[in-house]
Amino acid sequence: MKMKVKSSFFFLLSVFLSVQALKSPIVIVPGLLGSQLEAKLDKDSSPNFLCSKKSDWFILWVELESAIPGVDECFVDNVKLRYDENTKEYYNASGVEVRVPGFGGTDTIEYLDKSYAASYFNTFVKYFERMGYKKGRDLNGAPYDWRFAPDGLSKLGYYDALHQLIEDSYNRNGHTPVTLIGHSLGGPTSLYFLINYASPDWKASRIKQFISLSGAFGGSVKIFLGLISGEKRFTSTGRSLVTRYATRTFPSYPFLLPSYQLWKSDEVLVTQPKRNYTVHDYEDLFTDIKDPNGTRMYNEVRNLVSSFPPPNVTHYCFYGTDVQTVAQIIYDSFPDQLPSKISHGNGDGTVNTRSLESCGLWKDKQVFPVVMKSFSNVTHGEMVTDKNVLAEIEKLL
Ligand SMILES: *[C@@H]1O[C@H](CO)[C@@H](O)[C@H](O)[C@H]1NC(C)=O
Ligand SMILES: *[C@@H]1O[C@H](CO)[C@@H](O)[C@H](O)[C@H]1NC(C)=O
Ligand SMILES: *[C@@H]1O[C@H](CO)[C@@H](O)[C@H](O)[C@H]1NC(C)=O
Ligand SMILES: *[C@@H]1O[C@H](CO)[C@@H](O)[C@H](O)[C@H]1NC(C)=O
Ligand SMILES: *[C@@H]1O[C@H](CO)[C@@H](O)[C@H](O)[C@H]1NC(C)=O
Repeated sequence: MKMKVKSSFFFLLSVFLSVQALKSPIVIVPGLLGSQLEAKLDKDSSPNFLCSKKSDWFILWVELESAIPGVDECFVDNVKLRYDENTKEYYNASGVEVRVPGFGGTDTIEYLDKSYAASYFNTFVKYFERMGYKKGRDLNGAPYDWRFAPDGLSKLGYYDALHQLIEDSYNRNGHTPVTLIGHSLGGPTSLYFLINYASPDWKASRIKQFISLSGAFGGSVKIFLGLISGEKRFTSTGRSLVTRYATRTFPSYPFLLPSYQLWKSDEVLVTQPKRNYTVHDYEDLFTDIKDPNGTRMYNEVRNLVSSFPPPNVTHYCFYGTDVQTVAQIIYDSFPDQLPSKISHGNGDGTVNTRSLESCGLWKDKQVFPVVMKSFSNVTHGEMVTDKNVLAEIEKLL
């Protein structure tokens, strides 16, 4: 009798272990502003006496700086990209090196700052650790330089590294196909990888499924705020206008502008006393905000995924709804003041519903399943922490 109990215990244990071993390894591609960035300075000049010109590596993002006006200019000057008209390439600012720490692990996407205040994938990682996942083994992060649109990451070697990470994770975990999870901008970035850097055979053997969480496949009206009036999250001084001189140098921002395929020509996205701007007026808008480079940048990235090409893998498209989301931005004074009013529509608080649902366009374009699921009252950020979302992901592994 005793023997029997013991052997059935070991039988159950081995079933348990083999089930564990079969769980699909996870590779996470985070979103806009969702990877830590480190910088090292050796600059000739700085915009403000408060800014260092020389430094060893330090956390550039997220650095929750002091609220002294002027300190925000240091961040802007260090994080902005420089475009070279001759090579037609983007570079770090002069005298600034920028790197993305922690590739392969999850530490630098769990928290983005060193005092553990800016949490991101921490709840997610804890949840899957409780299920038996282990960081670095079958739970991997693929942080990247989110200043770039998906095409710009090629030059930085990101897709080769991501390909290798998936390959290693597959090998490390008993040749178990991987679950690729992309949040926000990580959705289109993962899509770009699956389309351009993954062969059909490789996808069939290495990728179990692609899960997008609040994937911004068709852009978002809110991105205009960052380009016209600056990014609130880039400063603790409240002087968000200062930060537009950084956002306007990032190709990721124009890439995330509302898709001309999803917004109609009579829908006003931005309005100011002199005129209205629709999805067909981006060039005029860039001219009017005195950012003519924006038109070139937008033209470089507008068609990267505009035809809604399918990933050609099994896809789960999870997104939040019923949260007030920027639909139209109204300026009484333009372009050097903050907006006077915002009109809202449906979305997840950051991305508009039509963009979140554009993954549905893949249903007729690929033989692999496309399964959409919306989560009411779950915001863009909460999609990576919400218990119901995590439980749905757990079921798929
Ligand atoms: C436009 O880009 C060029 C580099 O290509 C830069 O020198 C110039 O300052 C930019 N103009 C504005 C208004 O940002
Ligand atoms: C920024 O600096 C890092 C570190 O020196 C370098 O690896 C990277 O290629 C640079 N990025 C660009 C876009 O120049
Ligand atoms: C997806 O599969 C279709 C055929 O079903 C093919 O025409 C298309 O090129 C494939 N796209 C990618 C990115 O593999
Ligand atoms: C902007 O569009 C609204 C309708 O959405 C219209 O009432 C208004 O006159 C337009 N403003 C200008 C300056 O064209
Ligand atoms: C939505 O969620 C918030 C908390 O995030 C909660 O306070 C609110 O009651 C919820 N609203 C609905 C309609 O469920």
